[in-house]
Amino acid sequence: MIRIENLSKRYGDIVAVDGISLDVAAGGTVALTGPSGSGKSTLLHLVGAIERADSGSITVDDVEVTALRRGRLAAYRQRIGFVFQRYHLLPPLTALDNVVAPTLPYRVTYDRAARARELLDAVGLAGREKAVPSELSGGQQQRVAIARALMGEPALLLADEPTGNLDSKTGQQILDLLLTLREQRGMTILLATHEQHVAARCDRLVRLSDGAVTDDLDLRDGEDPATTLARAIQIRL
Ligand SMILES: Nc1ncnc2c1ncn2[C@@H]1O[C@H](COP(=O)(O)OP(=O)(O)OP(=O)(O)O)[C@@H](O)[C@H]1O
Ligand SMILES: [Mg+2]
Repeated sequence: MIRIENLSKRYGDIVAVDGISLDVAAGGTVALTGPSGSGKSTLLHLVGAIERADSGSITVDDVEVTALRRGRLAAYRQRIGFVFQRYHLLPPLTALDNVVAPTLPYRVTYDRAARARELLDAVGLAGREKAVPSELSGGQQQRVAIARALMGEPALLLADEPTGNLDSKTGQQILDLLLTLREQRGMTILLATHEQHVAARCDRLVRLSDGAVTDDLDLRDGEDPATTLARAIQIRL
């Protein structure tokens, strides 16, 4: 589903992504790990076309993202779900309006409010549609952010440390939710995480260091979860 070839991005003298090549099959959950500054967020931003690469290519399904002209970028972004590290909700807006807001600039074929309600229900927030972010817990705000990311019915969900700001129990609930939604909707999930227990529940672990891939582990080869966790722990996240 995703083919990344020799992708690079620098910020001034800093090489944030340094010649990454990576193929991701449709339907799986891939954990991007690695130390702070290793390029996880930058890679997600490039795949989500939030930032542009300096060189190399990204192809998602049949779309060569790195070759899209400005006018086509919005249409592509509409098809990708992005969950940001710090929710990025608009404080004055209700949960429902936060979910609807990003679709407003676009012509859509569905009823925005109806879909937003369905999604808030799917993430466990039925009845809280009118709450503003300050009235919601961190986990609930992240649920709103996930509902918002699903408005375009994305086949690909990119999530930047979706459990990073949450206590471990809430983090597990959010991860359970993402994995359930993935199953129900047949999405592919690429998520950045610092947490071993999060990475260990994904199908594959890709570790970055200094903008390059240093490890690429299949975590689904039939062993029991404790062994998988132990293997994941051996790789310093
Ligand atoms: N907008 C920017 N301007 C300048 N430098 C940037 C920018 N974004 C990222 N960088 C630099 O690029 C490198 C990779 O950053 P990135 O945010 O991708 O790392 P990360 O792996 O997501 O780290 P963390 O785990 O702390 O979130 C870092 O050295 C960072 O300082
Ligand atoms: Mg980051």
